[in-house]
Amino acid sequence: MLKLIQPDDWHLHLRDGANMTSIVSATARCFARAIIMPNVKPPITTVAQALAYRQKICAVESRFNPLMTLYLTQDTSISDIIQVKNSEHVIALKYYPAGATTNSELGVKNLQQVWGIFEAMQQHDVPLLIHGEVTTAHIDIFDREKVFIHEILDPILTHFPKLRVVLEHITTQEAVDYVLHHNISATITAHHLLMNRNALFEGGLSPHHYCLPVLKREHHRQALLEAATSGNPKFFLGTDSAPHAQSDKESKCGCAGIYTAPAALALYAEAFEQVNALDKLEGFASFYGADFYQLPRNTQKITLEKSTWKMPLNFKFGHQKVIPFRAGTDIYWKQN
Ligand code: DOR
Ligand code: ZN
Repeated sequence: MLKLIQPDDWHLHLRDGANMTSIVSATARCFARAIIMPNVKPPITTVAQALAYRQKICAVESRFNPLMTLYLTQDTSISDIIQVKNSEHVIALKYYPAGATTNSELGVKNLQQVWGIFEAMQQHDVPLLIHGEVTTAHIDIFDREKVFIHEILDPILTHFPKLRVVLEHITTQEAVDYVLHHNISATITAHHLLMNRNALFEGGLSPHHYCLPVLKREHHRQALLEAATSGNPKFFLGTDSAPHAQSDKESKCGCAGIYTAPAALALYAEAFEQVNALDKLEGFASFYGADFYQLPRNTQKITLEKSTWKMPLNFKFGHQKVIPFRAGTDIYWKQN
């Protein structure tokens, strides 16, 4: 049995409308707070929109504190940054390179155009959350994170050394090394800790293992496991749980995203147990993210017991269904 301070999810996709309504409780039954990604349609680009979206989430789930983000676009203004700075509920901006992932079309195309925004974010100490992948067609998809770090992230940090940055859902040894040697933090997903790229082709093409950044080789997974279980507070929990309707995943052009929320903490526990590091789970899941965002640590406790249960085959998702990670198979930890 494991007893830990209630964790938070520092990277979550909740979608909107009826889809949101059907999935928000899966996160709220485990996590006290979550950072809600803004890549809904249309994207959340202003504090007013973020607060309206937050209210809808809270109307469904009162147990839970959603921390909102704005989607950085070419139209983001310094006034938006100041509003975030002054908001209790909207706490960061998310940088999507245009075309990098789901609903990222309005993301950043030209870095120079958001340079003044970075300046204001540094000045007002507003965190920048980064999807770190280049989108250039000639770059191999497995190298997109590594190239982003050298070509985009490093110049940003050279110009804005005090900008508070989270490199989201890191997937490579290069990202781990970069975070270790620079003044930034990173989230790590459960699915990148549990799978390498072979899982994409296990017994045939597996659309439910397709996410972005895409799964990498085993040695990268080992580097992520080492970072997550190191006790270094630069690395903390962010599930990137990203539900899509079954028909959008199992289609001729399947969407990227893995729905891990129904077992998120159990999946992290499984990964940490693989390397005998369950004693490091609480820091990673419950302390370091709160510390980075300068928010109080939670005080409630939750318990996880070593007990096997079967993940349901699907869950309701608005008028459709979503297939969770590990659908129909064993999960080894259970939250009471
Ligand atoms: O796999 C992913 N799905 N990666 C992302 O960056 C976005 C997410 C989504 O919104 O579906
Ligand atoms: Zn995400």
